[in-house]
Amino acid sequence: MPSMDFPAGQVAVVTGAAGGIGAATAARYAEAGADVFLTDIGDKVHDIAKAISSKYPERKVHSFVADISDEKSVLGMAEEVKRVFGRVNHIAAVAGIVQKIAPVEHTDYAEWRRTFGVNIDGAFLVTKSLIPLLRSSGGGSIVTVSSVWGQSGRANFAAYCASKAAHSGLIQSLAQELAPSVRVNAVAPGHIKTDMHEVALQSMSEDRHQSKEDVRKHEWGAIPLGDGGDPRAIADTIVFLSSPASAYITGSTIDANGGLVFRT
Ligand SMILES: NC(=O)c1ccc[n+]([C@@H]2O[C@H](COP(=O)([O-])OP(=O)(O)OC[C@H]3O[C@@H](n4cnc5c(N)ncnc54)[C@H](O)[C@@H]3O)[C@@H](O)[C@H]2O)c1
Repeated sequence: MPSMDFPAGQVAVVTGAAGGIGAATAARYAEAGADVFLTDIGDKVHDIAKAISSKYPERKVHSFVADISDEKSVLGMAEEVKRVFGRVNHIAAVAGIVQKIAPVEHTDYAEWRRTFGVNIDGAFLVTKSLIPLLRSSGGGSIVTVSSVWGQSGRANFAAYCASKAAHSGLIQSLAQELAPSVRVNAVAPGHIKTDMHEVALQSMSEDRHQSKEDVRKHEWGAIPLGDGGDPRAIADTIVFLSSPASAYITGSTIDANGGLVFRT
């Protein structure tokens, strides 16, 4: 089996790197030997970068605040990658938001657009802005983060589900456009123990007039592997999809959901 480690000097860009899955992904790239550029809309990203840098002092680690739903901000981020590292080999488009819970008839168009703006426009803008540098760096990988809710609809979360379902069209088109030097895949997590999942559980609890713990028991109870997922499990899947261990995989969406998709 080829290794999940990267040759020295490869650079990974991770969006949403201040969040649960993004921070774990940035750390996992560093562990696997890559230098890491962390970006997020929140300035907590600088603390995450400092922590990774002190754990892996041999890696070059840089952090930058950008809004992935804003083209100008994304272009600034891509310029910073070029200025600081001069190359990029792996892009992990992790950043995302969950919509305000509501049926379609009560979902404001602005909320629909906000959800799409981050979840799919953001993935498009980030990958588009870095493709020239990815090509001139000799290629590598792109991994976007979809969702189990992008594979089947979910009442009261239509904007989120539709914005995540769009990832499969984006990654399959990119996989054809960029082959053979860049492989492009997505990972579709289930319920992962992060701030976003806590927000989703809280919204469902208010919507269903049930306690958050009852909602958690119900949602996690449907997972065959028996628990909400650790963000590191998604980080492992992302780094696998970037590494030589997945050399013949492109255009795929890989489930990482504890078996949940077979139960919904
Ligand atoms: N946690 C889950 O259960 C779960 C399940 C399926 C998919 N996902 C997906 O995983 C990804 C990571 O989510 P998480 O669970 O780590 O959530 P999280 O809330 O911990 O992290 C999301 C990060 O994205 C950042 N972000 C939001 N809007 C941004 C913007 N406009 N520009 C730049 N950064 C922005 C946030 O600041 C945050 O740090 C998301 O795309 C999410 O949809 C999560």
